[in-house]
Amino acid sequence: MNKQLRKLGIILLLCSPIVTLQAQEKKKISQETAAQKEKRMAWWTHDRFGMFIHWGLYALPARHEWVKHNERLTNEQYQNYFDLFNPNQFDPKAWAKQAKAAGMKYAVLTTKHHEGFCLFDSKFTDYKATNTPAHRDLVREFVNAFRAEGIKVGFYYSLIDWHHPDFTIDGMHPQRVDNGADSTYARLNKGRDMNKYRQYLHNQITELLTQYGKIDILWLDFSYPGKNGKGKDDWDAVNLLKKIRKLQPGIIIDNRLNLEEYEDGADFLTPEQVKVEELAQYRGKTWETCQTFSGSWGYYRDENSWKSTHQLLELLIGSVSGGGNLILNVGPTARGVFDYRAQNALGNIGEWMKGNSESIYGCTYAPDNFSTPKNTMLTYNPGTKRLYVHLLGYSSKLSLPGYKGRIKYAQLLHDNSEVKFTADGDDIVLTLPEKQPNVEIPVVELVLN
Ligand code: GLC
Repeated sequence: MNKQLRKLGIILLLCSPIVTLQAQEKKKISQETAAQKEKRMAWWTHDRFGMFIHWGLYALPARHEWVKHNERLTNEQYQNYFDLFNPNQFDPKAWAKQAKAAGMKYAVLTTKHHEGFCLFDSKFTDYKATNTPAHRDLVREFVNAFRAEGIKVGFYYSLIDWHHPDFTIDGMHPQRVDNGADSTYARLNKGRDMNKYRQYLHNQITELLTQYGKIDILWLDFSYPGKNGKGKDDWDAVNLLKKIRKLQPGIIIDNRLNLEEYEDGADFLTPEQVKVEELAQYRGKTWETCQTFSGSWGYYRDENSWKSTHQLLELLIGSVSGGGNLILNVGPTARGVFDYRAQNALGNIGEWMKGNSESIYGCTYAPDNFSTPKNTMLTYNPGTKRLYVHLLGYSSKLSLPGYKGRIKYAQLLHDNSEVKFTADGDDIVLTLPEKQPNVEIPVVELVLN
């Protein structure tokens, strides 16, 4: 070892405890211990699969929930959608039944998206569903219907508001000015007062967390700190978080409040629309990937990029295989129903879950010493010590490298039919049916020694 390298080694050695100490010393907002947090989140970690619902006025233009931003629409131009919002086929019980049949255990509804429209009967605004031809508190009906099906309920609430007169125009706002100078923004924002908006935001969160019973999840969206952006100070995020925890001590909160500097500024990470191959990198963290059927979150009539059942199942299995959750989004139409493509997809997922949900609920990534056989994804239930091999491509012989002596019994999960196996060196070779069983992604359940 040369002198310089040794010197570097000594420096690194001296620095490392400091680095670890710093990592440990991230600030905390609450007194909760790691064990208490694990307990609070136990149901969520177990359940793994939820439904996101993005519904708002943007269902009428039906060309992206960001339409107001994309087309730089003013409040006046957007007003038609408010005046004509009449979801006369809205039947939240039917939504809840479809979610349940798909195997989803929790559901999160947009109580307000970036457009600012409130699906709930807030006393702090007139811009709400009860003042449209809908004349209903859609949030209350959602809560009642989903709870009745035994599904946990969550609220998505947009920190951003493109309708509120005090929400200052920034680089993301529909009335933004590209490359606008500070003075331009100052002029545009004359008369707007973020203090008032902040109060409005706190008031509405309080309303949502006090008027609808126990709320299981709060999904706040989102922060974009920096020039012409907004972040924690704009929301008074630390106090907001304290308030939320006080009002609903059991609630689980996402990570978009811009409180990264705090150890407990969020309960879970939210990798959005990431590819299934990217999910493995989140192992060991607490996370939920949010995904759409077709690209946008709100109902988008002309979008034709719908994922296949196989792709959706890969996302679900891949999430659990990386130790995380999947929340899959539906964007109901302006009539208040799930589009036929969403209904089909949910039905197909439900069909698979009927026979295979044991490889999802209560499961996580496989122990490190099990290699992943070719063209498969593994999940593992640490309670029952069963390992699940998901066959993404099918062939009647499957080699499990290095599995010799580790398996007591193997069966197909959907029908508990035995799968015979032989040893080949250190490997195990499974003999599967010649013809693929009638299951989109068959699963082999391995009872470990
Ligand atoms: C985004 C988008 C959005 C969607 C959300 C879901 O940040 O702004 O439209 O609601 O993420 O994760």
